[in-house]
Amino acid sequence: ICNFENFVPKSQRMEMKFNEFLDKMYETEERGGDERVYLQQTLNDTVGKKIVVDFLGFNWNWINKQQAKRNWGQLTSNLLLIGMEGNVTPAHYDEQQNFFAQIKGHKRCILFPPDQFECLYPYPVHHPCDRQSQVDFDNPDYEKFPNFKNVVGYEAVVGPGDVLYIPMYWWHHIESLLNGGVTITVNFWYKGAPTPKRIEYPLRAHQKVAIMRNIEKMLGEALGDPHEVGPLLKTMIKGRYEKDHS
Ligand code: SIN
Ligand code: FE
Repeated sequence: ICNFENFVPKSQRMEMKFNEFLDKMYETEERGGDERVYLQQTLNDTVGKKIVVDFLGFNWNWINKQQAKRNWGQLTSNLLLIGMEGNVTPAHYDEQQNFFAQIKGHKRCILFPPDQFECLYPYPVHHPCDRQSQVDFDNPDYEKFPNFKNVVGYEAVVGPGDVLYIPMYWWHHIESLLNGGVTITVNFWYKGAPTPKRIEYPLRAHQKVAIMRNIEKMLGEALGDPHEVGPLLKTMIKGRYEKDHS
């Protein structure tokens, strides 16, 4: 059973000025090794004026039309990402619609639909890596995660001027290509379209994911300790839903 407290994250967050980040990035690059730095800054009123001017130069006419056409809710946030070649964001899904606008350099993006949930083994919702796959894509443990053998994704390489749509609840693994230099991306996150008044059956895969998340959260609250959720679910399922009773 997972013990979240003993979990050692693979990355750490550091606050710094933009110049400090650039120095750190070039130093890290010169040193060679496996270390990587990744700037991830929400575009808010603390960022420099020149960034705001660039941001206002985006094709808002196009993106606003997309938002209206798809009946999405409001634009909730924009994230500026500046990374080194070889940076990897491990496979995860987000709970909002995303237009991923590539500005500089190339990124390899592998997307998996929400119905691949059983192949991707997400961490429990209370874990610090919630929404992320437990599978190490570079060295998959097929004993622990046998269904990962069956995973099928879509691959795309995006470059400057490309906008990749990453639908809500779709898994994405993203890496900055090697030997491609610095990468810059701006994410546009939107609230999804409102849930339809009339629910249709069978439920769609992303709806099932949302339901499972809610059940895990509710059990955590009801039991008073998130670590009790796993054992309880195991006991509940054991020998009861494994057989087909229909
Ligand atoms: C990335 O570009 O590295 C991550 C973007 C995302 O997960 O939306
Ligand atoms: Fe994401």
